[in-house]
Amino acid sequence: MNATTRRAFLKSTTLAAAATALRGSVLQGQSLPGQVDASIEVMPGEAIGTISPEIYSHFIEHLGGVIYDGVWVGPNSRIPNQNGIRTAFLDAMRAVQAPLLRWPGGCFADSYDWRDGLGGASSRPARTAFWGQQETNQYGLHEFMHTCRAIGCKPYLAANLRTLPARDFYQEVEYCNAPAGPVPSHSAAPAVPNALATQRAANGDPAPFNVDLWGVGNESWGCGGNLSPEEYAAMYRRFTAWVPTYGSPLRLVAVGPNGDDASWTRRLFEALHDGPDDHRMWGLSVHYYTSGSPTKFAAGDALQYGAGEYYDLLTRGALMEKVVTDHWQAMGSVATHPNSGKNAVKLVVDEWGAWYGKGTELGEGYNLSQQSTMRDALLTGITLDIFQRHADKVAVANVAQAINCIHSLMLAQEEKFTVTPTFHVFKMYLPHRGAQAVRAEFTAGSIENPLAATAAGDSYSGSADAVRSLAGLSGSASLAPGSNGKRLTLTVVNPHLDRAMTTAIALRGAIITGATGTVLASADVHDHNDFAHPDAVHPVQAKVSQPVAGRLVHSFPAASVTTLQLQLA
Ligand code: AHR
Repeated sequence: MNATTRRAFLKSTTLAAAATALRGSVLQGQSLPGQVDASIEVMPGEAIGTISPEIYSHFIEHLGGVIYDGVWVGPNSRIPNQNGIRTAFLDAMRAVQAPLLRWPGGCFADSYDWRDGLGGASSRPARTAFWGQQETNQYGLHEFMHTCRAIGCKPYLAANLRTLPARDFYQEVEYCNAPAGPVPSHSAAPAVPNALATQRAANGDPAPFNVDLWGVGNESWGCGGNLSPEEYAAMYRRFTAWVPTYGSPLRLVAVGPNGDDASWTRRLFEALHDGPDDHRMWGLSVHYYTSGSPTKFAAGDALQYGAGEYYDLLTRGALMEKVVTDHWQAMGSVATHPNSGKNAVKLVVDEWGAWYGKGTELGEGYNLSQQSTMRDALLTGITLDIFQRHADKVAVANVAQAINCIHSLMLAQEEKFTVTPTFHVFKMYLPHRGAQAVRAEFTAGSIENPLAATAAGDSYSGSADAVRSLAGLSGSASLAPGSNGKRLTLTVVNPHLDRAMTTAIALRGAIITGATGTVLASADVHDHNDFAHPDAVHPVQAKVSQPVAGRLVHSFPAASVTTLQLQLA
């Protein structure tokens, strides 16, 4: 990025606004060491909700180099593997304690026959699949379940609603979840085994997979069938009516909007509301990709960007907050729980990430693979903080995708492998999972989006007005489970390219007695890891000064993501 652009841009950072806001903050009248640029006030007494560990979930699709090469190298490969699954992939997924893995798509799911991936490797058919690739079906349902088992995570299956009938969905659930062994049918008849459970056992897995989370189609407004909300609602009823549960309820996820299209959500809920199947929806899927252009499919370059593109991308990414609240409102306007009056359905943001244009693919055949820089690490922090601030609304979120596709945590090509800066942010946010999200107020000047004026009305992410500015500092706070309110995690993103933010941190009704931290930052925001330099970008211990009078002053470096662990009294 050139220095002139950067300087010109930085003039628009509203420093004065920050100082003015600080005068009215909780720190007013406190003697603070020197000048501060921002403040954070945390309210431990104002609980938002428990942060679902499943908001740090993942997604793999039969697309480009995601499954073949990324996840599946085959049992006879020279690449280190566990029964065909790349060992480095498993290790990284374990390192981020992946709670949930979504499969097989994406758009791929709606033309996939789950039966094609069963049985001996040589008997599986090869077919032309959604993304134009020849699908060999060497990686199927059992291989996916073994992947989840090896990681220690739960499976999340996307069912085919476009090209298979409802009977196949019903039977896929039966194949996965029916108990093995003889099952009583009628008191007068002998117990007999279930045919699909027997087939599963013959394929190597006698114990049921117990899949409880099911996506009923994918993007049915687009690749999943070009349906209207009303058409999809009718399909949803038919597919979900009387699906067998084997003693524990299924978590069924309905297809939600394209980006911020709240009218899809309202119409879908209206079409399903008061119907007999209302209660069958556990979650609504939301897909929100970030790009610097008016469509999600052409988004600038992953590696080459100036200050304008940098801030524009982050500003659009921060719109996730609007997407979450818009859809929460739309759902709540139609379907609330009869007793509590609260929303009866949770949000499942099962695809998100920065999606760039072509140019940084790993190679031919690695469709939609792209490099990932510090900019993407910041977007990851901003997004996870949004989910945490809305812990009462967002139950599941899956970054798209875990490896070799869009906003990946890992890149792999044959024996070469690296984690991306995004992987590190997932690790840094681990202390938030299962914790109690509490309200925190960030007071910092906002940053004007230098490209806002050129942003035309954007049907994907909302209006151009929504992308005018970006918070100069953002983040989220949570109280650690079992700590009796004594341990607080604070994650903070400073998006300023050239400016550290000296920030006064205080708690309402509590004092800080100690602090430690981890920070991810780099000399240049374009920095990234590649196969030759897999450790170029990595987090380090943050220099944290000790609190004075129960408060902390901390400097968040330019273009950084920080996790602070605070001890409270
Ligand atoms: O993640 C890539 C694709 O993006 C998915 O297949 C689809 O659901 C979305 O449009």
